[in-house]
Amino acid sequence: MSILSNGHLWKLTEFLENQKFSFDKNQILDSLSKEDIDDAYTKISNWKGYSPTPLIELNKLSKELNLNKIFYKDESKRFDLKSFKALGGAYAVEKVTKGNKNIIIATATAGNHGRSVAWGAKRLGLKCKIFISEYVTDARGKVMSDLGADVIKVKGNYESSLIECIKQSTKNNWQIIQDVAWKEYITVPKYTMAGYAVMMKEIVDQLDHNKISHIILQAGVGGMAGAMIAGVARYLKNIPITVVVEPDSAACVLESIRTGKIEKIDIIRESLMGGMSCGEVSLVPWEILKNSVKYCISLPDDDIAKTMKLLGNANFSDEKIIAGENSTPGVISLISSCENEKIKEKMQLNKNSNVLLIGCEGDTDKEMYQKLINQ
Ligand SMILES: Cc1ncc(COP(=O)(O)O)c(C=O)c1O
Repeated sequence: MSILSNGHLWKLTEFLENQKFSFDKNQILDSLSKEDIDDAYTKISNWKGYSPTPLIELNKLSKELNLNKIFYKDESKRFDLKSFKALGGAYAVEKVTKGNKNIIIATATAGNHGRSVAWGAKRLGLKCKIFISEYVTDARGKVMSDLGADVIKVKGNYESSLIECIKQSTKNNWQIIQDVAWKEYITVPKYTMAGYAVMMKEIVDQLDHNKISHIILQAGVGGMAGAMIAGVARYLKNIPITVVVEPDSAACVLESIRTGKIEKIDIIRESLMGGMSCGEVSLVPWEILKNSVKYCISLPDDDIAKTMKLLGNANFSDEKIIAGENSTPGVISLISSCENEKIKEKMQLNKNSNVLLIGCEGDTDKEMYQKLINQ
């Protein structure tokens, strides 16, 4: 394995099989309906500046791993926002406001979701209030204020920023656009997921009759993974082997799949994969993921910088790919699974496999990107 190792083994922390696995397309589409998915595609594909993001073959990596093909959906090219998140928050803003220009939008965010909401508000000429925790970098805050949003920094973590957002929004009658669902707040997070499912429609159009055998999905609160699985149910004839990958410090989907119910993780160390550093799976995605995910994998941060560099230097594909931290776990979990004979066999990764990975962001935090690739 010339590009990959020099004797270095790629690390995964845990591999778990879902004992309750059963992929039921109808049940999945009960949680996120065909109509919701189709409406998002119709609307978003008509936005100014829309074009599908590339589906890149990691041909050099598939050769090294003895797999048939690896497809990498490159969301670094998603509008000017460089992340799949552009599809979710901005679409939810459009759905909720329905052309009303007097509504003020509010959200709490760790970064990319807020950027999408701020951008969606700007597109429609709406005022926007963004709540961020003290841990969100100034660079990320500035991107949102550059989009015209009022950015409000709150002491404490993400949860504190959400509490403050809810408090001020209730008082001022602002409309909250959140990507995380809770018991009384389901519809808006569903819209964000319907927006994310646009990726799967594009992928199906780009696959050119290749059949996907495996799909590896990153998870924070699980919105993206749930949306893509709903996209599988909506658009694919076959059912690929579904894998969710998370940082080992915040493996809330894995822990919930282990016990069969939502488990809250106490995050002691924040992962470099900040967008995925979430302690609790969201309600709507959980209803989808709990049965439809076949395997869960958790990863340490060790191989992130190296993977970003290898993608950026065109070591895995013919072209260079700008991949942010959150884009790396698909590649890392695939390599580490192939290096472990037991897992490789269990996952049926072989010369017939066509694996789909989601490169969910580019250099959304430029400073961090430079720091990591220069390590
Ligand atoms: C930038 C970013 N944020 C967040 C997430 C997680 O998405 P979700 O919270 O919907 O699971 C990802 C993907 O894993 C991501 O790349």
